Amino acid sequence: MTVQDGAKQAQGYVFNPTWDLETERLITNEAIWDPGTIERFERLGVDRGWACLEVGAGAGGAAEWLLERVGSTGRVVAADLEVGRLDRLAERGVEVLRNDLRTEELPAESFDLVHARMLIQHLQDREAAVARLIRALRPGGWLFVEDTDSLPLFRSYRSERFLTDIKEAGYGLMRQAGHEPRGGHFDLEIALNSELTEVSAEGRVVMVHGGSEQARHYQLWLEFMRPKIVAAGLLSDARIDEAIAEMGDPANRWLSQVLISTFGRKPPATDTGGNR
Ligand SMILES: C[S@@+](CC[C@H](N)C(=O)[O-])C[C@H]1O[C@@H](n2cnc3c(N)ncnc32)[C@H](O)[C@@H]1O
Repeated sequence: MTVQDGAKQAQGYVFNPTWDLETERLITNEAIWDPGTIERFERLGVDRGWACLEVGAGAGGAAEWLLERVGSTGRVVAADLEVGRLDRLAERGVEVLRNDLRTEELPAESFDLVHARMLIQHLQDREAAVARLIRALRPGGWLFVEDTDSLPLFRSYRSERFLTDIKEAGYGLMRQAGHEPRGGHFDLEIALNSELTEVSAEGRVVMVHGGSEQARHYQLWLEFMRPKIVAAGLLSDARIDEAIAEMGDPANRWLSQVLISTFGRKPPATDTGGNR
């Protein structure tokens, strides 16, 4: 796939799936969020024999954990716009599916768990995307979607203004490109207004240490946003270099976004009423 193809396919998605540092950006995102996601998989009771669908699978960390958990009697499908990063999992038995959640249906009524992290908040028609995820659930299956509220990002003991200019510039442009910075809240609203039962939500925040693998994710985010921020006249290259150095400094610590996890269960086939 050419860079132009990648950009066209992801039109309306702020990041570029074919950017040369995108795989590292996704792997470092997993370093921030996979531990908490896995705790929640455990809590949902994901077990041997489950059929699981991971949508917007990114670098495949969550799909890999699911594969190990469900074992040879289970099934894991990993879907994404850009599936090259998932080849290593295909070799191990994950079914890799190239899918554009904006326009393409997923296998219907097929999964005990459908999980999507940091995907829905990038899409224009979030209701339609969640409806597609719900259609993929078997009766009794769990929807588990995770999106952010960016409010606490970069809160730090260092100063009230720590990286606030960077956040304002970067998130302002992301919003213009279609990213919803309060996406997690809307996931809950959509779930509450759907056929799902047992709907609940919660948020988690990670303390990021400068110079860590988690901090590297924010450095890569800023490198990706750099040309857009500079072209828009919001900040200089020199200020961006300085901010990237601040993120690399072990003396700095800051909060991540809140990641809001929303859960809901498709009514079992025999269930004739909701219990919300
Ligand atoms: C912000 S990344 C999150 C990746 C991964 N879920 C994680 O949390 O580490 C969003 C992922 O969704 C994929 N994606 C973006 N738009 C998509 C679409 N319309 N349909 C399916 N996948 C999409 C991207 O290629 C990328 O892998």
